[in-house]
Amino acid sequence: AAIRRADYRPPAWAVPDIALDFDLDPAATIVTARLTVARNGVADEPLRLDGEALELLTVSVDGIAIDDWRMEGDQLVIDLPGDAHTIETKVRIAPDRNTQLMGLYASGGNLCTQCEAEGFRRITFFPDRPDVLSRYLVRLTADKARFPVLLANGDPIAAGDAGDGRHWAEWRDPFPKPSYLFALVAGDLAVNRGEFVTRSGRTVQLGIWVRQADIARTEHALHALKLSMAWDEQVYGREYDLNVFNIVAVDDFNFGAMENKGLNIFNSRYILADPDTATDYDYDAIAAVVAHEYFHNWSGNRITCRDWFQLSLKEGFTVYRDQGFSADQGSAAVKRIEDVRGLRAAQFPEDAGPLAHPVRPDSYIEISNFYTATIYNKGAELIRMMATILGPQAFRAATDLYFERFDGTAATCEDFVACMEEASGIDLGQFRRWYSQAGTSRVAASIAHDAGEGRATIRLAQHQPPTPGQPEKAAMVIPLKLRLFGAETGRALTDEQLFLLKDPAATIVVDDVTERPVLSINRGFSAPVVIDSDRSAADLAFLARHDDDPFARYEAMQQLMLDTLVAAAIEGRADHDAVVDAVADTLANPDLDPAFVAEAVLLPSEAFIGDQLAIVDPDAVFHAREALRRDLGKRLADQWRSAYAAAPDGPYAYTPAAKGHRRLRAVALGYIAASGAADAAGLAFSLFESADNMTDRQGALSALANGDAGEREAALDIFYNRYADNGLVLDKWFQTQALSSRDDTGDVVRQLAEHPDFTLANPNRARSLLGAFGANQRAFNAADGSGYRFLADQLIALDKLNPQTAAKLMPPLGRWRRFDPNRAALMRAELERIVATPGLSKDLFEQASKSLD
Ligand code: ARG
Ligand code: ZN
Repeated sequence: AAIRRADYRPPAWAVPDIALDFDLDPAATIVTARLTVARNGVADEPLRLDGEALELLTVSVDGIAIDDWRMEGDQLVIDLPGDAHTIETKVRIAPDRNTQLMGLYASGGNLCTQCEAEGFRRITFFPDRPDVLSRYLVRLTADKARFPVLLANGDPIAAGDAGDGRHWAEWRDPFPKPSYLFALVAGDLAVNRGEFVTRSGRTVQLGIWVRQADIARTEHALHALKLSMAWDEQVYGREYDLNVFNIVAVDDFNFGAMENKGLNIFNSRYILADPDTATDYDYDAIAAVVAHEYFHNWSGNRITCRDWFQLSLKEGFTVYRDQGFSADQGSAAVKRIEDVRGLRAAQFPEDAGPLAHPVRPDSYIEISNFYTATIYNKGAELIRMMATILGPQAFRAATDLYFERFDGTAATCEDFVACMEEASGIDLGQFRRWYSQAGTSRVAASIAHDAGEGRATIRLAQHQPPTPGQPEKAAMVIPLKLRLFGAETGRALTDEQLFLLKDPAATIVVDDVTERPVLSINRGFSAPVVIDSDRSAADLAFLARHDDDPFARYEAMQQLMLDTLVAAAIEGRADHDAVVDAVADTLANPDLDPAFVAEAVLLPSEAFIGDQLAIVDPDAVFHAREALRRDLGKRLADQWRSAYAAAPDGPYAYTPAAKGHRRLRAVALGYIAASGAADAAGLAFSLFESADNMTDRQGALSALANGDAGEREAALDIFYNRYADNGLVLDKWFQTQALSSRDDTGDVVRQLAEHPDFTLANPNRARSLLGAFGANQRAFNAADGSGYRFLADQLIALDKLNPQTAAKLMPPLGRWRRFDPNRAALMRAELERIVATPGLSKDLFEQASKSLD
């Protein structure tokens, strides 16, 4: 049954305080919860406590055991007279049988929790909704030898011996919080400690807790945490508020990480790094996720969400904040390119498919399914657009106002937008449609030049494509940064202008345009839209060469490549000259940073090319792209060789410059391999063997994995044997093979699913094979449907263990409308088989049934 945003009602009972007592044991943990409850004004409403998979032992009210409670579905209902009581419940749970990884569960012999969104109800009976804020006092008791470390939210207040080889610890969190931010960890963990002194002089004890064997891989995360704490003070004026900040890394985790107050719990892949096992990409992602979770302390914890429809209030804003942090650590231009690439890879397809939903959805069946690229990444773009419209000073004033006014409350997206308006005096009435309308807006843009009058006329028209449940839409306000360049001289003819496209169509007239103008539009990707322009290959090549906005330059190059590839995929023949020239120019330009060059010369992904076609032909897209890669590889052979050799030698350093060189080296190696050069595999293999870091080694392995040289098997074996005891690196081994462009990838993946190291019980491992395979457009969409059948089999098996992770891996099967009737029928048959599976979770049911509609 669907939950609707319009049905929101404030809670009938508040729970100002909760005392939790855990008698921890993996097989049988006893949880005693003492709640003070206070009526919230609504008369006669009974107290309703959510609970799931709990064995209820006792219930008492004001110290007296009762038995006139009742269960209504998953709610424990107690009729209470009067306005204030103390309720105590005792339940038994079994963490070691919790394969869903929601609530209290075991990972690697330790115990940990995940409560967002609705996991707390799997720990104890409670009004498990984000607008019930309580002060938590937590007591943990456990076996001292097995669980020497006992952590919970807030500050530690007392600890002691409990006799019988057991010990206890008490933690108190002075900040009222919703239940989804509760956390505890019990285990045998080592700590890397640090300190941070806040701007007002408070010393915070920092701790990164991991297995003893991993302690040497925690320095980067600790450093990133300190940088994040300083950045949030400088850029948003936000200071940390407790005496301790702990992060625990666990291997079994449903997503990236969780911002529990004072006790973040992370997927170990977003903590552990050293040069031998983590790529530059991993280092970047670790810093970004550490920053993201830390930033939630204000955007999420001090101010939380009224209900789960407001999820983007904390997630979109926090992604925007972590993007800003990462941009400030290195090249802001490259970071913007990466973020837009991510948006186009994950969010645009969501907006164009059966699971499209607004940034603030109107309904859901299972909230876990709404932790999406739309809520997170498009949500961040909404904040970015408001920051653009307001300008930096008014935006900062608006966030200050928001943090001050809503501190300690559960707020809404509307509250945030209202602060933006109030602090700036700018009317955001129309802007609010960005929160309610799904789908990716398109803007048609053209420019005409009257040479005699010296006048340029820019014509813009917006189009809002229909999405499920939203056949018709109103015009959006679309902030577009524009600039004109002169085709003859290459100079800028105007300043950059911010144009707000509010109407369905608009015309902008520019005078004193004395030479033919070329339009640079949506500079910096100022709006998350698709631009349909009629710019010629020559004009795009011109912008790729002359535009002063690095993003626009990259974008012009991408558009040129995309136009070339789409034409080739449809017509089967291609003219590569314009792309080859533009790539050659970019490689030859000494003023460009290698990290930027690496991004600019990379071809759009097969999936993104497919997204441009009316009906995706995965084989045609693949062959068109391979042909262009081969041609670029051959015709620019010398340039790739020198780009490859240009990277300075020397030990690994994680600096923006060194990263850029490694990135360009990997891209160059890819082109050398694509050219079919006889020595390509040898070159890749020698990099693979001599590299002192995972970035180069993984780059070499990926290049080899696409080919059929003997070096491929050798490298895969060496890699496997070298890292057999490192789960995170083995994930790369699975993933690299699943992403391979070889013809036999489908067979290889099906064999890998039988490999002794493959397991559905670990979400990282499941994603490394199934997620990568689903993203491999040609292999997954094999015409015989074998890819679809395989994924469906795996999802049905995974759903029994971990519904959330299964549901997350389903969307590639829902894209049937984008394919030919044969493939569409095969995909639909698998979706139908999933929906008909007895005992299916509501997570997978929601995704699969919506995808069939
Ligand atoms: N709040 C966490 C984060 O973004 C993610 C929680 C995801 N929860 C879920 N049920 N998928 O940092
Ligand atoms: Zn988040």
